[in-house]
Parts: sequence; C-alpha cells; structure tokens
Amino acid sequence: HGTGDLAGRHVVVSAGGTREALDPVRFLGNRSSGLQGYALARTAVARGARVTVVAANVALPDPAGARVVPVGSAEEMRGAVLEAAADADAVVMAAAVADFRPAAYRDSKIKKTPDGEPEPIALVKNPDILAELGERRRPDQVIVGFAAETDDVLENGRAKLARKRSDLLVVNQVGETLGFGTPDNAAVVLGADGSRTDVPRGAKERLADTVWDLVAARLKPRG
Ligand code: C5P
Repeated sequence: HGTGDLAGRHVVVSAGGTREALDPVRFLGNRSSGLQGYALARTAVARGARVTVVAANVALPDPAGARVVPVGSAEEMRGAVLEAAADADAVVMAAAVADFRPAAYRDSKIKKTPDGEPEPIALVKNPDILAELGERRRPDQVIVGFAAETDDVLENGRAKLARKRSDLLVVNQVGETLGFGTPDNAAVVLGADGSRTDVPRGAKERLADTVWDLVAARLKPRG
C-alpha cells in the first residue's frame, strides 16, 4: 500500500465460477478458471489498492497481498460481494455467475428412476449481483462487469451495460481458443460515457491493467 494510482482505495474483484448444488455430490457449474479475476487482483495490489477477492471455486494460489473470501454458489457470492462492496471504491465482477440454480436441493443423492429414464431438473433464477450493485451504487463507486458474447458482441454489450447500470463492461468474444482457462484474453471495454477501448489479444494481466486504467480515470479525486 502507499504508492500507485489505486493507493488508499478498496477494490473488490469476483473471480471463478459459481457451482449450484443439486445434491450432496452434484452441481451445475461452468468452465471459469479464475485466471482473469486473479490477474485483476494481482495488478490492483501492485497499483497500491486494498483488494478483496470473492473467489468461487478457484484452484489457483491466492494472489499475494489480497484478502480472499471463498464462496461456492451465486447466493454465497452475492452475500460476500455486497458485504465487501459496502466500503469499496470499485467493484469488478469478473466471475462467471450461474444465471439459474436447481429449484430444489436434495439432501440425499438423487437416484436413478426405476425405469432408468432421467428426471427433469427444474431451475429458478439466481440474483443478478452486478445489476444489484448498479442499483445500490454510491455516486462515487465504479462498477465493472464482464460479458462473454458470441454474436452481435458490441450491440449486446451496450445493451447489457445500460441494463446493469455499470460504468464499464468488458466484452469478450468467446471462442474456442480464448477465454476460459487460457492465459490470454482479448476484449473491448465499453464505457457508460460512450467510450470504447480495444484490448488486443495478450496476457490477462494486460487486460487487467487496462481495466484499472479506466477505473482509476473514473474515481473521484480524494480530498
Ligand atoms: O448477463 P450476463 O450473465 O452476461 O452478465 C455478466 C456479468 O454479470 C458478469 O460481470 C457477471 O459477473 C455478472 N453476473 C452477476 N450475477 C448473475 C449473473 C451475472 O453478477 N446472476
């Protein structure tokens, strides 16, 4: 702490992917590794910030100098993020949060039906943490979302940015070779002010530093 353009700031980063339990041994999950979120955490520490990482199912070494809050499900992530966000200057939602969870949790392992046919799994909506942060935001807070899109990337990104009332949205074109689990990323960062920043393919640290550049430019100067 002390020096760097994020010195004296508290930033919250969510990382990894949530797991939504079906029964004691099964879950619905996704392929997010946490690499981008941890790169954001490391670069924020290097720039002087106090960093809280809300980590969903990340199998990576803790980023040095950051506080790591482990969570499992989207609801657990919501609780941890909202609590940490209370005094945060910036919140970056890099985690892949499940949009839906099983409607019911079974206390004992789900058995095959006698006729061997699968039972349908009913789903319910999870809370949208990023949208909630956008609703509750203090005027001096900077809120950043991530969006993985496959088509009409920019158009969908602009609509999502507005819908979730974020300041910045990092839009990834998800492909076969870039994104989940890879050390590289490429993205377009859209700003609520109409700005657009293209980040060519490179290390996830590079995208992370670009995000912090854009966040730092939007933080109110400290009096
Ligand atoms: O709507 P979509 O899932 O594409 O939005 C992605 C962004 O919203 C990410 O920043 C993700 O962390 C966040 N999100 C969330 N809560 C959800 C779903 C997504 O905070 N339930």
